[in-house]
Amino acid sequence: MADGYDAMAERYLAWSALSPSDARIRALELADALIPAGTDVLELGCGAGLPMTARLAIGRRLTGVDLSVEQIRRARANVSGATFLVADMTELERPPASLDAVVAFYSLTHVPRDEHAALFARIRTWLRPGGLFLASLGVEDDPGTVERDWLGVDMYFSHFSARVSRRLVEEAGLIVEQADVIAEPEDRFDARFLWIVARAPAGPVPQP
Ligand SMILES: C[S@@+](CC[C@H](N)C(=O)[O-])C[C@H]1O[C@@H](n2cnc3c(N)ncnc32)[C@H](O)[C@@H]1O
Repeated sequence: MADGYDAMAERYLAWSALSPSDARIRALELADALIPAGTDVLELGCGAGLPMTARLAIGRRLTGVDLSVEQIRRARANVSGATFLVADMTELERPPASLDAVVAFYSLTHVPRDEHAALFARIRTWLRPGGLFLASLGVEDDPGTVERDWLGVDMYFSHFSARVSRRLVEEAGLIVEQADVIAEPEDRFDARFLWIVARAPAGPVPQP
């Protein structure tokens, strides 16, 4: 995973940031509208930080996390005023109730799906009451496959159906406010993602 994103960093950026899809622009505008200024934001799988991190870091305390050393090197160069960490999001530790928003754009579909429920449960503990979780998830049943020559590298994908992904987010204790399946062009084929907007409920935060 990290080696793949290290290797095709330039190609990914040209594709994702220089000609962003309508779905990406929609997600960015939604996140920008829903996350107030002055808040604490965590971005999981931030990549090189363009265009998402750069915009969301304006006026907010944003920490971006990515497995790829090269993507984080680029993010640090592209985005000022944010904090970046090279880390595996499935092993990340954050203090309970320390975040107002957790966002993940096009990254969770690279995480083995058996780890999704535990990750959602940890995100729930990181969020303050009313905190936002906004992420793209898969829509098809894929236990884990390597797609050959995806933007020039072999790339791992794994996800549940949209119905199961939504249920896992709800079972983590988050309240789903929006769940939209949106298609967009991706490398050789169109891809569909489930865009989830969910919130931590009011009241005490569960212990990790
Ligand atoms: C498709 S890119 C998306 C990058 C960026 N979020 C965007 O919107 O363009 C997926 C990113 O997730 C990162 N990633 C994949 N698995 C990860 C993991 N377990 N922990 C942290 N980052 C991960 C990859 O290194 C890559 O930078």
